[in-house]
Amino acid sequence: MCGIVGYVGKQKAGPILLDGLKRLEYRGYDSAGLAIHQRKGLTCVKKTGPVINLFKETEKCELSGKLGISHTRWATHGGVTTENAHPHVSSDGLFAIAHNGVIENYQSIKRFLLGNGYTFASETDSEVLVNLISYHYRKETCDTDKRFFESVRKTLMHVEGTYGIAVVCVDYPQEMVGARLGSPLIVGIGEEEYLLASDVSAIISRTQNVVYLKDNEVVSITPKNFTISTINRESVDPIVDQVDWAIEESELGIHSHFMEKEIFEQPVSLENSMRGRFSDDGSTANFGGLNLSSQEWRGVDRILFCGCGTAWHACLTAEYLIERFARVPVEVEYASEFRYRNAPLDKNTLFFAVSQSGETIDTLAALREAKRKGFRTLAITNGVGSTIAREADGGIYQHAGPEIGVASTKAFTSQILLSAMVALYLGRLRDMSYTDGCAFAKALKQVPELVARTLEQNEKIKDIAGRYAGYEDMLFLGRQSMFPIALEGALKLKEISYIHAEGYPAAEMKHGPIALISDKCPSVFLAPKCETFHKIVSNIQEIKARTGKVIVVTSEGAEFPADLADDIITVPDAHEALQPILFTIPVQLLSYYIAVERGCNVDKPRNLAKSVTVE
Ligand code: M6R
Repeated sequence: MCGIVGYVGKQKAGPILLDGLKRLEYRGYDSAGLAIHQRKGLTCVKKTGPVINLFKETEKCELSGKLGISHTRWATHGGVTTENAHPHVSSDGLFAIAHNGVIENYQSIKRFLLGNGYTFASETDSEVLVNLISYHYRKETCDTDKRFFESVRKTLMHVEGTYGIAVVCVDYPQEMVGARLGSPLIVGIGEEEYLLASDVSAIISRTQNVVYLKDNEVVSITPKNFTISTINRESVDPIVDQVDWAIEESELGIHSHFMEKEIFEQPVSLENSMRGRFSDDGSTANFGGLNLSSQEWRGVDRILFCGCGTAWHACLTAEYLIERFARVPVEVEYASEFRYRNAPLDKNTLFFAVSQSGETIDTLAALREAKRKGFRTLAITNGVGSTIAREADGGIYQHAGPEIGVASTKAFTSQILLSAMVALYLGRLRDMSYTDGCAFAKALKQVPELVARTLEQNEKIKDIAGRYAGYEDMLFLGRQSMFPIALEGALKLKEISYIHAEGYPAAEMKHGPIALISDKCPSVFLAPKCETFHKIVSNIQEIKARTGKVIVVTSEGAEFPADLADDIITVPDAHEALQPILFTIPVQLLSYYIAVERGCNVDKPRNLAKSVTVE
């Protein structure tokens, strides 16, 4: 939530900051702003709405400075107004700050600062932070070359909450200070230029060399170098990582929206998630970074999966897969609930966090809570170098490529696929035979091709979407491992098209949701060829008897009665355990085309941000 970009170097900062903000916009689009160090002081420009509004506003000013910070906001404290937009400038005009996070003790600090003559123009906690920096700066007596850095460091010692910050000071035309606690911040190392950013996508056009800051680290960047120390003044030896993305991966190309691009990338992202992860004998999966021996795996009695939103749905599919193939009991919890629930856990429980970004604050907090209790923690994440990836004891990178659309798509199918591979790996350590292992591994390898074939239904699904875009309520129903896909279908539809949708296990329908059925509330049934196929057909009949329209997603071999549904989408046959991946594609496309038909802003749905880094 909220995106920060900072630049210092030989180029004009303005265009670089605006380009970075554009790429970070998925983190928040309530307002955007920048502050640039100019010959006559700090020039600050802010505008509500998307980055394009800021872009137009900056065309009216002369921005020639080569050091600057910028921010795209997802509002927490205070409404969506220009006053509340970042950067915030201290009331004496000395400092400007771009802040991502929440300062929890801002009210007491604000009272203190008001008593010391500071004034406030916004309702934000961030403005309190920048004024406290100014307060410490005025009191600071250390050498001039350290005074700016020291005043930021001292301020942070008085702050409770979370922050990723970039700060500039009028007196320091060549220096920027950044810091993080709980909110991500990276340093980009370019040629005679350095950048700060909330994530890699903002700076990938300028450098692939990055340092992921850790909590409680403070960094100073100048055009010539950077230094990092902890908030307690211990110096830090930075580890420079190389990002392996190509710039094109974070660009739209021929697509209208990132969501569309990412749906169609799934054959490739799934292939990349699996690459190099099968054993030579073809009977099991191999993972490089789990940091758990076979003996330790055999000692695991229970696995607890935690995630939020779509990642939580992936956790639910992991439960079906792992219990089926490895016969290890799995529990699934919302990370946001687990972190405060103080759940009793068996001592041989393994904790698994699932997060596309690797930065979701609740998932991170759940992971930390599990670690604190002494449990072994693993993570499935797409966020290379993310906080969750670094703090888990081991894990699996998804390698799905950057996911920019706020609605998660390719990350979800990759998470299911990797859960299936964990199930295979764990199954082979237990009772799964060599032959069964080979058969399942073979089925896994076929998934990208089957997904590509499913995507060929695109035009048909678009046509169906056109006919359902006018409804305001919809149900998604499926049984067993299709239940999480029903939940995911409903989430996709509501988040991007604002249609009220619910996902339910199909057999539960009669226990309440059937009351919603009328000609105004269509249902999407997920009906693959499976043990419960005929039961689902009966459920559909019950809906039809009550004038409800029905879209059925089924599989080739299921022989669904053609006259029973209003619309049928057929996906190829796959191994039954892997059908959830294929069935995800039509619900993604259906939601996407409905949202487009309704004229919604698909990649930037209202009130949402890609990565939820505040509670
Ligand atoms: O980055 P994460 O996977 O941890 O994000 C979790 C959720 O915030 C995310 O899946 C959210 O629900 C998406 N908007 C779903 O499309």
